[in-house]
Amino acid sequence: MKIAVLPGDGIGTEIVAEAVRVLQTLDLKLEMETALVGGAAYAAYGHPLPDSTLTLAKQADAILFGAVGDWKYDTLDRPLRPEQAILGLRKNLGLFANFRPAICYEQLVGASSLKPELIAGLDILIIRELTGDIYFGQPRGRRTATDGHFPGAEEAFDTMRYSRPEIERIAHVAFQAARKRNKKVTSVDKANVLETFQFWRDVVTQVHAEYPDVELQHMYVDNAAMQLVKAPKAFDVVVTGNMFGDILSDEASMLTGSIGMLPSASLNSTNQGLYEPSHGSAPDIAGKGIANPLATILSAAMMLRFSLNQEEAAQRIEAAVQKVLQQGLRTADIYSAGTTRVSTREMGDAVVKAL
Ligand code: IPM
Ligand code: MG
Repeated sequence: MKIAVLPGDGIGTEIVAEAVRVLQTLDLKLEMETALVGGAAYAAYGHPLPDSTLTLAKQADAILFGAVGDWKYDTLDRPLRPEQAILGLRKNLGLFANFRPAICYEQLVGASSLKPELIAGLDILIIRELTGDIYFGQPRGRRTATDGHFPGAEEAFDTMRYSRPEIERIAHVAFQAARKRNKKVTSVDKANVLETFQFWRDVVTQVHAEYPDVELQHMYVDNAAMQLVKAPKAFDVVVTGNMFGDILSDEASMLTGSIGMLPSASLNSTNQGLYEPSHGSAPDIAGKGIANPLATILSAAMMLRFSLNQEEAAQRIEAAVQKVLQQGLRTADIYSAGTTRVSTREMGDAVVKAL
């Protein structure tokens, strides 16, 4: 089982180091190879996703990814910015299905900004389409407007588009996932305004005909944003496009107490996957040793489950995370009075020990 380890920038290196130690503690034959990605790769090779890194990722069964991005690269031309590395990996490996489970651990009910009764027992799964939509749609760019409100003015544009097969395959992923859970899918769109998302709604409805045992609900994205903080437990599986999924998954992370707790899996049609925390590189706290490594450690558990077929090892990691939370250990983002504040490294140590 070969794992490409791509720590990236900012806190990426700190949190991935802990996840790697957790993986090494398991009694599994894992071959891990590390490479630079994002701003770190740009600094070393002049490109955020060098060929060598992409080749390593393609050859691996799974990729453990940290985070990319740093303010100092924000003024580079877009193709050279760190974010292009993760977008390039998603596109090149065809990682179209992004799973972002938002689970509120009993021990962290108090860490959320929402009322405990709203989130206690929360277990929802956001499935975000990851290789289409306005993120990748062509054409895009800048030009001089020839029509619109200000003909002759400088303007910028992106293209929102989805093809039938793209919607069909993510809809199948969502219905199949729901079958293993509470059999309810909420498809989030903006069909009242956007052509792309009326089509999305039509195609999802057609695919649903193959899953009569699963309940399907359609919801506009603005309402979904509201319902997520009003009655989050009413959701089971949420399926949506790339852009809406980006936004709603950050919102959902706050239901769990901290985005530092939210893992993710991005899979292609052969179950090769990239596993990363849903949060970013947090350059403001990088190097301080205070970042929460649990989202990355939980992402490693998802990797064992989905790409490496090691369900038992995945459950061991998840139980170990529960155990350290039970012991009252908290990184700064989930700290509350009466618990013990620990560093990134100490949290990793505790999970290793619990294993
Ligand atoms: C995410 C991130 C990325 C995205 C960025 C870093 C390109 O926000 O994985 O949610 O927008 O998809
Ligand atoms: Mg995001």
